[in-house]
Amino acid sequence: MPEEFTVTPWEVKGDIDYDLLMKKFGTTPVDDALLERLAGYGELHPMLKRGIFYSHRDLVWLLNEYDKGNKFTIYTGRGPSGNTHLGHMMPWIFNKWVQDTFKVDMIFQMTNDEKFLFKDMDLDDTTNMAYQNALDFIALGFDTKRTKIILNTKNIDKLYPIALSVAKKVTFSTAKAVFGFDNSTNIGSIFFSAMQSAPAFIPSVDAGRQVPVLIPCGIDQDPHFRVCRDVAPGLGFPKPSSVYCKMMPGLSGGDKMSSSDENATIYTTDTPKQVKKKVGRAFTGGCVSVEEQREKGGNPEVCSVFKYNYYMFEHSDDELNELARKCRNGEILCGECKMCLTQKINVFLEDHQEKREKAKDVIADMAYDGFEW
Ligand code: TRP
Repeated sequence: MPEEFTVTPWEVKGDIDYDLLMKKFGTTPVDDALLERLAGYGELHPMLKRGIFYSHRDLVWLLNEYDKGNKFTIYTGRGPSGNTHLGHMMPWIFNKWVQDTFKVDMIFQMTNDEKFLFKDMDLDDTTNMAYQNALDFIALGFDTKRTKIILNTKNIDKLYPIALSVAKKVTFSTAKAVFGFDNSTNIGSIFFSAMQSAPAFIPSVDAGRQVPVLIPCGIDQDPHFRVCRDVAPGLGFPKPSSVYCKMMPGLSGGDKMSSSDENATIYTTDTPKQVKKKVGRAFTGGCVSVEEQREKGGNPEVCSVFKYNYYMFEHSDDELNELARKCRNGEILCGECKMCLTQKINVFLEDHQEKREKAKDVIADMAYDGFEW
């Protein structure tokens, strides 16, 4: 029986079949040949090797252009609806690898308008949250000279003419089919996708020539970029390429880390104690009793603690395989494994929280067109 699942830019639920999703969306797998080619630019990021960034659109074309000397710009973003959690950080970490590996410029869009339109939030709240989220983004170490942050309501003079030209080419019928809108959807939401398309064209507008763009992000955002790519040629812009990741799982065994499940979500501002508590309660692949687990072993495949190591916290493949082996053999039990992960997360967060403070000194310089936060 196929499991039901839903993946849209505004809702991710159910047991996601990522291969099926790729087929539904019509994106291309990141296959061995592409991995081999990417390895030629620098050591492959574990998220590529492990199939976390697993699907793309026109990445081969983008690399061909790059090889010809036509550098691309990276574009990604964040809808500032709440505090940053590890699930948000995961793709940003990959974006940083892309910037370091290819030495390219980057645009980061904060859609405070989107979260105002789609959520029960004030514009002030989503704007303040954008500032908080931007600190987390900057703390990851993006090149402060090459990276610009767009805040939709502040950079509207740049975005609006481009968004208009996109919006003119997208019918309500397309928006309904792609995003599932109906007659009860507010008209701001219907327009919004044009605002998310716009940054993909800013590099070309600013440079006055066709600049390739790569969008590394969660695959849930693909519907926006499908529409964006459809309209690009008609507007005289290159179609943006993309590379998509799977969703960071939650600690309760769910498919996606989500703020609606607070106890299973680790925020960048969590204290060591909070992390310990959350990881302590995590869903694992262990047995009900110690004796049983020593005898039969655990199942790392369903274990959220193992997934955290797999997605973010264990970079060494050897260590990861050894962990899986020990788990299956009953050599390591859930308590110990949880302690190890807690420690890794806390080491990461301690460093991150320091960098997050320092980000306050550079955030003004990274504002696109020098807007004031
Ligand atoms: N819509 C995204 C979100 O809700 C934010 C976003 C804007 C984005 N532009 C993007 C995400 C480009 C990925 C790539 O989080």
